[in-house]
Amino acid sequence: MTTGFQHLHSYFAYLVLLGIAISFIYALVGALSGKTFGEKDRKMGLLGLIPTHIQLLVGLILYFLSPLGISNLGPGTMSDSMSRLYALEHPVINIIAVALITVGYSRAKKLTESRSQFRSIYMFYGIAFILILSRIPWVAWLN
Ligand code: HEM
Ligand code: HEM
Repeated sequence: MTTGFQHLHSYFAYLVLLGIAISFIYALVGALSGKTFGEKDRKMGLLGLIPTHIQLLVGLILYFLSPLGISNLGPGTMSDSMSRLYALEHPVINIIAVALITVGYSRAKKLTESRSQFRSIYMFYGIAFILILSRIPWVAWLN
């Protein structure tokens, strides 16, 4: 079962990055073009939000199943950069990133001025995107 979740989390990551990138570009173009924020624009925001939420759920499950997750926490974790990345930095930073995306999306729904609605999405999603990229275990992922 652990292997299944590992593969799911690994392949789903592409969808997460693609979804956030599309939402980000779409919102940026929306803000720059000065158009009205409508239902379609909200749904384009969901393209980044939904895969990210599913990835969060899978990641949390994986944290308790994988040998690289919680069971990796111990006296040597902090001095080993890979252990620290998997057991601490990747989970913590990604939880913050998912929270930022959720706030960006929720704010966009509540705000009333179109430019601010688009800005809420591209700013929060943009920062989250950078945070996620900064803590991906690239060496393991691309091999
Ligand atoms: C650990 C698991 C999860 C947590 C803690 C979580 C938390 C949240 C929170 C706090 C919101 C904000 C609601 C708002 O203010 O509008 C939200 C929205 C949403 N979540 Fe999740 N979620 C999780 C998993 C999922 C999963 C598995 C899905 C699968 C499809 C999902 C889909 C959504 C959608 C579609 C919305 C937006 C609803 C709307 O349009 O307002 N979430 N979630
Ligand atoms: C939401 C954005 C996230 C993205 C894009 C993401 C992406 C990734 C990627 C690309 C890997 C490497 C997979 C591989 O080696 O093939 C990975 C591993 C891992 N992630 Fe995430 N992740 C996210 C969130 C989380 C969260 C919130 C947690 C835990 C709370 C988590 C826990 C883990 C664990 C434990 C591993 C190691 C799995 C293993 O190889 O045994 N991830 N993640």
